[in-house]
Amino acid sequence: MRALMSRAAAIMVGGVAVGTFLTKAHDRLELSRAKHPSLAGHAKWSRRIAQLVPFYAYDKSRFFDCDGAPASVAQRRCQGFARLSQLYRERFPRTAALTAQAREGISDLQFTAAYRVPFQFSRRVRESLSAGSFVQSAQGVTLTDLDGNVLYDLTGSYGVNLFGHDFYKQSMQAGAERVKDVGAVLGAYHPVVADNVTRLRAISGLDEVSFHMSGTEAVMQAVRLARYHTRRSKLVRFCGAYHGWWGDVQPGVGNPIPAESTLTLADMSEQTLRVLRRRRDIACVLVNPLQALHPNASAPSDSMLIDSGRRAGFDRAAYTEWLHQLRAVCTERGIALIFDEVFVGFRLAPGGAQEYFGVRADLVTYGKTLGGGLPVGVLCGRRALMRRFREERPADICFARGTFNSHPQVMGAMNEFLRRIEDPDISTLYDGLDARWNARAASLNARLESADLPVRVANLSSIWTVLYIAPSRYNWLLQYYLRAEGLALSWIGTGRLIFSLNYTDTDFTAVANRFVAACQAMQDDGWYWQAGATTNKSIRRQVRRELIATALQRRLPSPR
Ligand SMILES: Cc1ncc(COP(=O)(O)O)c(C=O)c1O
Repeated sequence: MRALMSRAAAIMVGGVAVGTFLTKAHDRLELSRAKHPSLAGHAKWSRRIAQLVPFYAYDKSRFFDCDGAPASVAQRRCQGFARLSQLYRERFPRTAALTAQAREGISDLQFTAAYRVPFQFSRRVRESLSAGSFVQSAQGVTLTDLDGNVLYDLTGSYGVNLFGHDFYKQSMQAGAERVKDVGAVLGAYHPVVADNVTRLRAISGLDEVSFHMSGTEAVMQAVRLARYHTRRSKLVRFCGAYHGWWGDVQPGVGNPIPAESTLTLADMSEQTLRVLRRRRDIACVLVNPLQALHPNASAPSDSMLIDSGRRAGFDRAAYTEWLHQLRAVCTERGIALIFDEVFVGFRLAPGGAQEYFGVRADLVTYGKTLGGGLPVGVLCGRRALMRRFREERPADICFARGTFNSHPQVMGAMNEFLRRIEDPDISTLYDGLDARWNARAASLNARLESADLPVRVANLSSIWTVLYIAPSRYNWLLQYYLRAEGLALSWIGTGRLIFSLNYTDTDFTAVANRFVAACQAMQDDGWYWQAGATTNKSIRRQVRRELIATALQRRLPSPR
């Protein structure tokens, strides 16, 4: 009898073990299916592969004919490059000289200079085409460098510059004036803080607000609170989405340690919804609505322009539908839905992405432009999620501080920002916003098409990216021709052009003229020459072969 019972027990234990194993295997399979097939969708693999990539640089002749161009075309390119580099030397001497001097001591400058173009071309480009990274002044929609060159500003100050440089100068100045009597008192608040909170609650439609020094910190706080209140550990982010440089939201390349509690899932995917519905350990889902322009792709940077494979295109209806689905599944499963509006907040609509897409989040982060020109991160959230302690468990708290949170100068400039967006001269900029920027993108595309140039733009309102429609190895060079035409881009080049909303039709026409002229100059200098059989795939295959050959030559140690 006893033997019978212990056999039955063993069978039951075995059954439970098999059941657990099958459930885990099923979960694992579903998780794999919910990952985007690209490398960006596989954080661990992308880190491993990144460690294997060896450096090599093209020598003088490969630099101009790495796509197999005949000698005549390579010579045209070589002459064009020499002309461009001469123009840079003559036009940007002071700006370039100070940049070269400062670079020694500014790590960030060394990084951004090295990663403007694909690494095979980078050294020669740095030697020959340095326009520099300093500006003397900013006004309207332009920047003036140390040599007195006035450039149309398409950098958007990383997205901060929404209403034009003068708006921020005035906000910073008036804000400083408003709070000047308290100096640098921290801990106690200047009265503008209360007004900021009232306004932010109205804009976000959420109950409470916390102030931080950067967008990265606001995101950290949102995720920490979601974990605290749900008592779950996992955070879901979508493939390619940027949420600042905190480790947990940046698994994969760029972060030296694995982010074990982060799940990177595919954007706009039924499989992702299935995982959210099934798993019990997901605390929050982070959405960066900027991904609507390029779902599942990382921020487009010219250093990744190996071929013409950059893809982008905004489908408002499809992305809205996706956000509604996410909202429903998060509500059903008690998962905190976080909109990270650090970039797009105030840019798409006065009420941000929540208003633009008609979907409410549980927590919303803002930053960049909201500081009125000064550094800031803000978290708005539902009361139940914002609380940092539990009445019934006094030792169980969710800690978040920061010496400079609510700094009077930042709060003053923010107050100016929040007041001034209600002024008619600013609020009218939102009228017909999308129609205006879509029409501008369409008109530039029509001009590029009629000039038979293999370049197009795609946009999410005033945030643009440049696309290349013919396979080429030299698209990264366009940013330098654009600079020569007087257009200032950020270090990621043509991956992101950010317009401030105060661009008039006349300003825009000037930018479009220069843009077309730059593409035309690329064409004239032979960079768009193409062998009949070249495809993006064949380019990638060729680069893969070069990488493998270099790695074998050097016998790199295997990755850790
Ligand atoms: C969507 C988003 N979240 C967070 C951040 C990080 O903000 P910050 O650079 O202020 O730390 C950024 C910055 O670009 C962002 O675009």
